[in-house]
Amino acid sequence: MCAMKVSDLVRIQVTPSGDRAYDVVLGEGALDELPALAVGRTRVMVVHPRALRATAAVVLAGLRGDGGVEAHAFEVPDGEEAKQLRVAGACWDALGRVGFTRDDLVVGLGGGTTTDLAGFVAAGWLRGVDVIQIPTTVLGMVDAAVGGKTGIDIAAGKNLVGAFHQPLAVLCDLSTLASLPAVEVRAGLAEVVKTGFIADPRILELLEADPTGSARLPELVERSIRVKAEVVSGDPRESGRREILNYGHTLAHAIEKVENFSWRHGAAVSVGMVFAAELSRLVAGLDRATADRHRELLRAIGLPVEYRGDRWPVLLDAMRVDKKTRGRRLRFVVLEELGRPRGFDDPEPGLLLAAYGSVAAGGVSAGEN
Ligand code: GLY
Repeated sequence: MCAMKVSDLVRIQVTPSGDRAYDVVLGEGALDELPALAVGRTRVMVVHPRALRATAAVVLAGLRGDGGVEAHAFEVPDGEEAKQLRVAGACWDALGRVGFTRDDLVVGLGGGTTTDLAGFVAAGWLRGVDVIQIPTTVLGMVDAAVGGKTGIDIAAGKNLVGAFHQPLAVLCDLSTLASLPAVEVRAGLAEVVKTGFIADPRILELLEADPTGSARLPELVERSIRVKAEVVSGDPRESGRREILNYGHTLAHAIEKVENFSWRHGAAVSVGMVFAAELSRLVAGLDRATADRHRELLRAIGLPVEYRGDRWPVLLDAMRVDKKTRGRRLRFVVLEELGRPRGFDDPEPGLLLAAYGSVAAGGVSAGEN
């Protein structure tokens, strides 16, 4: 991974082994890079949610003007509703109607759900066409849009059907964050905090000084992307080190499932990290101060650090069918110390329960499932 600064845009190169390298372009005006990247294509399909109609109109105009391409729009539902097989199917039908060929380009403009879907559509069409991702949320910029994971949800769970499909470029235009509701910014900051604990403690210091993140958002986003770019460059298909990006995610995915996906991913990751920190203390020797630092920082940001004490049995069941589970073994990412994550298989049930005690509102009880 290397990086260079051109004008006020930051370029972070991702070099996935066995795949072509690409840039994550970050800064105000990154969107303006799109037309030049599309020159030479015949057709571009911009996949976007309803909420981003106005931004999509600007993008389409730029593609038709400076890009000189035939630009089409495909509108998807807002949020998780976009990541459905029927939505992917409708998008493929739209590509078929306009005669989309292997040389054409898909653009994913929106939050993580839109870029996940757009990437999946591009991965499937003619067995793979190019996609450029334009994430418009903090979560999308620091996580979902970088690294080539694409997918949709099915009844059995989130992201269970998907493909690794690296983008041609990722354009993170910070001006698109200006209208993002504070609750969405906080949800994205959960992944930023994760990056701080697993790899870049300076992120934690910046957020401790200003838990809203607002004053230093560009630096926080850039630092997080640098970590993600470095990790996915070395392990693009998650056969090893990439799993550290799942810190806090085993419990988080279970909470999301038990809550029928009504919780924001970042909120669930917040609770999941407090749990993972306590598990790390119990099984990997993490010091108490660093474990406590998780709860203090996440609470200061305004993210949840507790979940229902009576839900442990259903959470345990949900964790057993998570993607990270191998055979019958539960798999977690734990910290040995700040910035030193590793995988951990199958903690003793008593230790898991004890770790859950650190997030269980009202104490753990067998409760109703
Ligand atoms: N969101 C975790 C990863 O991209 O591997």
